[in-house]
Amino acid sequence: MTEALIGLGSSIGDRARWLQLAVRILDADPATEVIACSKTWANQPIGAALGRFLNAAVRVRTHRSARGLLSLCQQVEDRIGRRRARRWGDRTVDVDILLYGNMNRRGRDLSVPHPQMLNRPFVLIPATEVASTMVHPVAGQTLAQLKPFDAAGMVATGLLPQPVALRRSAKYKPRAFSNPTPDRENGMKIFIDTANIDEIREAHAWGILDGVTTNPSLIAREGGDFIQTIADICELVRGPVSAETVSQDAEGMIKEGRLLAQISEHVVVKVPLTNAGLTATRALADDGIDVNVTLIFQAAQALMAAKAGAAYVSPFLGRLDDIATDGVQLIEEIVTMFGNYPELGTEVLSASIRHPLHVSQVALAGSDVATIPYKVLSKLVNHPLTESGNARFLADWDTVPNNDIVGQVTAWLEKNRS
Ligand code: E4P
Repeated sequence: MTEALIGLGSSIGDRARWLQLAVRILDADPATEVIACSKTWANQPIGAALGRFLNAAVRVRTHRSARGLLSLCQQVEDRIGRRRARRWGDRTVDVDILLYGNMNRRGRDLSVPHPQMLNRPFVLIPATEVASTMVHPVAGQTLAQLKPFDAAGMVATGLLPQPVALRRSAKYKPRAFSNPTPDRENGMKIFIDTANIDEIREAHAWGILDGVTTNPSLIAREGGDFIQTIADICELVRGPVSAETVSQDAEGMIKEGRLLAQISEHVVVKVPLTNAGLTATRALADDGIDVNVTLIFQAAQALMAAKAGAAYVSPFLGRLDDIATDGVQLIEEIVTMFGNYPELGTEVLSASIRHPLHVSQVALAGSDVATIPYKVLSKLVNHPLTESGNARFLADWDTVPNNDIVGQVTAWLEKNRS
């Protein structure tokens, strides 16, 4: 079990109630136990928020991975109905991981320790109440040593449900979530499966690209300086970019993985599903490095990878179809399996996609990510009926007199404004 520290904040509605509810939902998670709760603290609003914030902190013990705990925090926000209009705007409830054991990682989805916790008294004061002896792994000091002298106008207003009361409350103990899965806010993520920077640039310009996967074959196909290629891809996409290790022993994979991860915070280290790959996954995940375990052809392999701490598993459906085995069924099995154990926090990355039908099939199966070659991505956009329909609209438009949209609309706006 890992001890973690979670920050809570609310600025709209019945703020004390939202924070209390958040604590109860966190504690209802079968893999997580709330062990200490701070007082609730009222603060001045920050940024564009209009309401006065109420903040608190809870210390938990959890069997969840850091990603699994992040997923739980997001589920709590969703259940309480967070509607965040803009960054730093008012919100029903914010649930953030502040510390996760002594993990130190920077990533787009998950940064631990919370990057702002040290310069925000409204985070650090309640955090110190419940975890004064926890050490901030970057500062190398306990929270008690880091606590600000100035409480910056904060006032203690009340209490959260205390762990002893939570233990007595059977009502909240049943399994809280039937089938939660990682980050579904933006639908299935689309990665491109290539090391060709021009293809990546084009797909990125379409505004749909969430990440990139490469492998040794794809890198070899492009030639050139592969490290610089990875760095350029990361700079362009600013999302997860898988770079594969080639050593066959765990020690070599760990060494290569640690080096690859230094190219950019966006690098995800890819290792094959072997015994050595599992050992390397555990070591790299413990370092806070995201790992994509690749070459997965059966559901139990995916379970092994997730248990070792993988951020992603890559089942190869096209290569299974090639040998007359149903690749989409494998995706369905893994998605169902991970849905049973959300504490794993591992995302299903459907790989070896050969045609557009595969893309819709894995989305229907609930895959978190599909990595798609450029050739297939282009086919997702093109359809002969779209082309002929568009040509027909243009031909009809040509028969409209004064059909210059920009000129006509500009003139109309000027006339109607005056
Ligand atoms: C995934 O990360 C792999 O690079 C890729 O999807 C393999 O696909 P293939 O079977 O078409 O080579």
